[in-house]
Amino acid sequence: MIIKSTQATLMPDTLTKLTYQTFQQGKNYFGLAHKILSSRLSSLVSPPVKRQTTPISPEILEKIRKRFDELLETDWEDAERGIYPQSLLFDNPWEDFFLYYPAVWLDMLQIWERNNQKRYQEFSQKVDTSGYPSYYLQNFHYQTDGYLSDLSANLYDLQVEILFGGSADPMRRRILAPLKQGLEAFKTVLPSRQIRILDVACGTGRTLKLIRSALPQASLFGTDLSPAYLRKANQLLSQIPGELPQLLQANAEELPYLDNYFHGITCVFLFHELPAAVRQRIIDQCFRVTQPGGIFIICDSIQMSDSPELLPVMENFHETFHEPYYKQYITDDLVERLEKAGFQKITTEIHFMSKYLIAHKPN
Ligand SMILES: C[S@@+](CC[C@H](N)C(=O)[O-])C[C@H]1O[C@@H](n2cnc3c(N)ncnc32)[C@H](O)[C@@H]1O
Repeated sequence: MIIKSTQATLMPDTLTKLTYQTFQQGKNYFGLAHKILSSRLSSLVSPPVKRQTTPISPEILEKIRKRFDELLETDWEDAERGIYPQSLLFDNPWEDFFLYYPAVWLDMLQIWERNNQKRYQEFSQKVDTSGYPSYYLQNFHYQTDGYLSDLSANLYDLQVEILFGGSADPMRRRILAPLKQGLEAFKTVLPSRQIRILDVACGTGRTLKLIRSALPQASLFGTDLSPAYLRKANQLLSQIPGELPQLLQANAEELPYLDNYFHGITCVFLFHELPAAVRQRIIDQCFRVTQPGGIFIICDSIQMSDSPELLPVMENFHETFHEPYYKQYITDDLVERLEKAGFQKITTEIHFMSKYLIAHKPN
């Protein structure tokens, strides 16, 4: 009997895992097909200006594939050990995909032209650019209107999914295990509802959605500089059950919160898009608003020090996309910056193309 019931639970799990792997592989192939087709089309329609990119060797490609498989394995294992529900593994913005995927193609022509002509500070007339820091007024990835229009906010997640072959959420989910672990310190003294978590530069709200699944009771907060991305985040987050996260437009260099307010702070894919001095200012602010004993987690691109073998990929990324601060970012010592702010017990992890810095504010 025991053997039978073990088999009964094993079978659905094996099937679910296989379905998850197939789902992710499908997204990966889709991203690849999209990139091949778009590069062929761009050569016909708007022949790309020759850039100094390094060919990626089969050994590097094999390393990337291995890292991708490891990411999926960890993603599956974290769901299995209850860090988040298995259903999260299959979460996909299907509605956005059907609504906006055609617009991704339509927008591509503009992106190619901007890329060829190296125009990267271009905003449509209806975008109000006043009051933003100059480092922010860029067409990062040559995207139309930078981060400052509804069109950009509607296309962003699809564009990121294509770029990372469907692995953006699995990479974002790697903050959840250390976050939950870090918040354990408050479990005995506070009801879950009083745990406050801030996602800095929350963009369209995907990370907050993942945190909500892993910590359904916590009070969530998100800030971003882009009103359009916050509108999009509000749309996404108001569809899910539970308390609505509080979203606020703010520059992360001056977080509009009290000292020691948050038990946990996360920040995903922001630091590579900032000048070095701004990185330090934002880390200092995160330190200020973290409670003693609280945790701060950064997820961003891999760097030279942890992945020297992938240097050609990092160099090509910098060369192909408009990422003006990336070259300096990959050699920046983020551990030193965190220590300078006052954080302690800093550990790092690498998952696929992302690096994670997990830091604690001393009691
Ligand atoms: C690459 S996106 C990452 C968004 C989101 N965290 C994600 O996981 O997709 C960078 C985000 O940082 C925001 N941002 C850039 N500089 C900022 C700053 N100084 N303060 C607040 N948000 C900023 C942008 O508006 C954008 O939403």
